Order: sequence, then structure tokens, then C-alpha cells
Amino acid sequence: MEASDKSGDSQDIPFTPEKHTSYLLALDKSLDSDAIGHYTNEHLKLPGAYWCIGSLKLLNALTEERKKEITLFIKGCQQECGGFGGNVKHDPHVVTTLYALLILSMFDEVDAIDKDRMATFIASHQKEDGSFKGDYAGEVDTRFSYSALSCLKLLNRLDLINQEKARDFILSCLNIDGAFGGVPGAESHAAYTFCSIGALKILGDEDLIDRDKLGSWLAKRQTIQGGFNGRPEKLPDVCYSWWILSTCFMIDRQDWIDFKALKEYVMRCSDVESGGISDRPGNEVDVFHTFFGLTALSMMDQYGLEKIDHVYAIPVSTIKRHFPHVYQ
Ligand code: FPP
Ligand code: ZN
Repeated sequence: MEASDKSGDSQDIPFTPEKHTSYLLALDKSLDSDAIGHYTNEHLKLPGAYWCIGSLKLLNALTEERKKEITLFIKGCQQECGGFGGNVKHDPHVVTTLYALLILSMFDEVDAIDKDRMATFIASHQKEDGSFKGDYAGEVDTRFSYSALSCLKLLNRLDLINQEKARDFILSCLNIDGAFGGVPGAESHAAYTFCSIGALKILGDEDLIDRDKLGSWLAKRQTIQGGFNGRPEKLPDVCYSWWILSTCFMIDRQDWIDFKALKEYVMRCSDVESGGISDRPGNEVDVFHTFFGLTALSMMDQYGLEKIDHVYAIPVSTIKRHFPHVYQ
């Protein structure tokens, strides 16, 4: 199939940053009840805030206006053990702890929290086999490895864990098709492949994988509609624009992707009138797909969006400002 066949008839769909901005700002009315949680569940307040604030940052539309309140809210999510829950008084989790750090860095407020206790909390979740559990309940998969490693690398505290064992656990999730499942023996899945390659990249071990084999599996995820699916035979979905394109950048196989077709798929999922991006054309928009649609456009250098880092999922400028050791 020719690349142009994937593009559909969406060449003229305009990018409307001001509409996306008003959509995002409308989600964030106040911090209580239907506040940061207006667009998402109670226990998802902090993830929702990350997607919303990340989107505004990419649009160069993040202002100081709500910075104080949101920083206080995030501080309030830190527990005695150093970890952050998804909302005030919620149990701490490795993933929400990473989101807390990412949000605060975009607000230039990384010093508002206790970073030592944060690092200790994350490190305490590594298990004997090198894997990471997400919380006290003990579920294990590579989302938690990635989140833990990203957080510790940003804090410059990878020394707190056994890095060789962390790497070996990730490699034990590698499948014969060149991609990764979330736990050993699980089917390959694009989002878990992102987590695995991100983790290896953070550890400096990305050369251990077969880039061509993985690149070929990733490129095959691009469907006739231009968008990616997460596994063979599944429908395309905008969020995979991030999980897959970022991974292609990490293994330097981004040239194997049809950028034009991908961009047009994301544009077909955008609500030009009311703002926001959905998973598939015609579906209702949400903040998760808005963020990941924008990250894809950013990686493809479209519309003057702030450049996102394909490993850490925050702007390159934010990493340079708050975590300069990452690029050294
Ligand atoms: C898709 O799940 C997503 C994943 C499995 C990866 C999630 C990664 C993290 C939480 C790490 C932090 C990420 C960032 C960007 C900072 P799904 O259940 O929606 O998959 P499905 O499409 O198969 O339903
Ligand atoms: Zn999705």
C-alpha cells in the first residue's frame, strides 16, 4: 500500500491551539469535587493533572495562574513514606509518584517536595528479581519498572537500586517478535514495549536489543488509516502515536514511520470546534488522548509545539532546566 493511501482526505483540517487550550482550561475549574478530577476519576486526579498540564505546556499555554494551588495539592498527595497517591490521602503508588515529579517540573516547582523521601519510596519497591511493584499490594509489570527508573534518573538517584537486575527483568519480557510484554511470557504490546525500551534507554542498555526487528514490529503497527494499533489486528488509537513513535525515536527507527499519514490521523481525531483529541475519528475527546495526540505532533515538529522528550514525556526544555544531568 502506498503511503499516500493512508492519509484519507484530511489534509485541510486546521490546527486550532486556542480551542485545545480552552478545552483544557475548562477541565480545571477548581481543586475540589469536580476539579482536577472533573475530567477523570477521583483516584486519577494526579494522572489527569499530568495529561492536562503536559498538554498546556506543549501548547505553550501553561501560565502561573493555578501554579500555587496545584503545587499545594500535589504536596498534599505525598505520604510519610515519600510516595504520592493519585489524590490526597490515597495510597502511594510508583506511577503517581512519577507524575507528581513530572507536573512539578513543568511548573518549575521541583523543590516544593521532599525528593530524598521520594527516591527512597521508589527504590523500596524493587523486588529481588529486579522487577518493581507498583504499590504495597505487589502487582508487578514493566510500567512500574519504567516509572521507577524514570523517577530515579530524573532525581539522579539510580544508585539506590540494583540496575543490572532491573535490566535483566526487562529483558526477560522480550518476545520472539522483537517486542515486549508487560511481564515475562505476556503477548507483545506497544505500550509495554515503550516502557521496556524507555527503561533500557534510561539504564544505557538499549544496544542489547535488535533495533531492526523491533523497528519492523513497530512500523507494522501503522494501519491503513494512518494511526497505530497497540497489537496486531487491533483498531488504531491516537495514544499509540506516543507509545510507538517515541519508541521508534529511542531506537532511531523513526524514519520507518509515515509521518504524514500519522499526522493526518491525529488531525482527523481532533475536535476543531470545541478542542481536544479523541482515540478515533468521531469519538468523544478526552484529556488522555489530547495529551498523546499533541505529543505525537510535537515529536513530528508540527505547529510550533514545544518539543517533547521521547523517553521522559516532558518537554526537552524542562529537562534542561531542572534535570540537566540527564543530557550529560
Ligand atoms: C496502555 O494501557 C498503556 C500502558 C500499558 C503503559 C502505561 C505507562 C505508564 C503508566 C508509565 C508512565 C508513562 C508516561 C508517559 C510518563 P491500556 O490499558 O490503555 O492498553 P490497551 O490499549 O491494550 O487497553
Ligand atoms: Zn487510547
